[in-house]
Amino acid sequence: MNLIFLGPPGAGKGTIAAMVKEAYQIPHISTGDLFRANIKNETELGKRVKAILASGDLVPDEVTIKMVDNRLGEDDAKNGYILDGFPRTIAQADALKEMSKVDYVINFVLEREDILKRLSGRRVCKSTGRTYHILYNPPKVEGIDDETGEPLIQRDDDKEEAILNRLEVYDKSTAPLIDYYKERGLLIDLDASKSPEEVFAELKNILK
Ligand code: AP5
Repeated sequence: MNLIFLGPPGAGKGTIAAMVKEAYQIPHISTGDLFRANIKNETELGKRVKAILASGDLVPDEVTIKMVDNRLGEDDAKNGYILDGFPRTIAQADALKEMSKVDYVINFVLEREDILKRLSGRRVCKSTGRTYHILYNPPKVEGIDDETGEPLIQRDDDKEEAILNRLEVYDKSTAPLIDYYKERGLLIDLDASKSPEEVFAELKNILK
């Protein structure tokens, strides 16, 4: 099963992708996570994209497309995948058509007010990428990762200025993909406003 998770920043794509990965045993391919791993490891790619991610702008299409093409060519993606955060532009969607056949595009639907609450309260473990929320999914000990014991951080792009830019970029460059995939009969809306368990249960029903 080849899935795309489409939706605004903070809609819960990564949270639900982790649950789908576990239940369906398919890899969760997040372009944001791939870029962040490159930044952490100080690769050439990481150095090139660091400031772009911090500002909330998009990494150029050709760089992103090449990275995803390489990742989809790995063995674990042969029997399915969840693509989270890709495509984000029409050019990326056109490129993906040449790389792979998509089964469903899940469109995470969430009000702006809830998006802002989710992003401003998000905290992550830098080394594992595990995600928390100070109100909706707090760690057992405030500010500390449950498993590694490391301090949690706020992503640079979860600061107010970057959040507003990311939402603008989403509206301009990514939201047009809703019609793109609707016209191709692949789009399914998912109400992302409920608890992660409820959203996941609804998605499982859809995928049956
Ligand atoms: P990326 O990492 O993809 O960021 P994003 O799309 O903005 O998505 P997020 O990770 O912010 O949100 P999410 O929907 O996964 O929400 P989450 O589950 O964490 O991209 C980062 C950057 O990389 C981009 O800005 C760009 O620069 C670059 N990039 C990436 N892909 C690119 C591409 N294709 N082309 C060009 N550039 C690209 O949840 C958010 C919070 O809410 C968490 O705290 C969570 O605990 C909480 N939460 C989740 N679900 C629920 C729920 N149901 N109820 C209550 N709380 C919840």
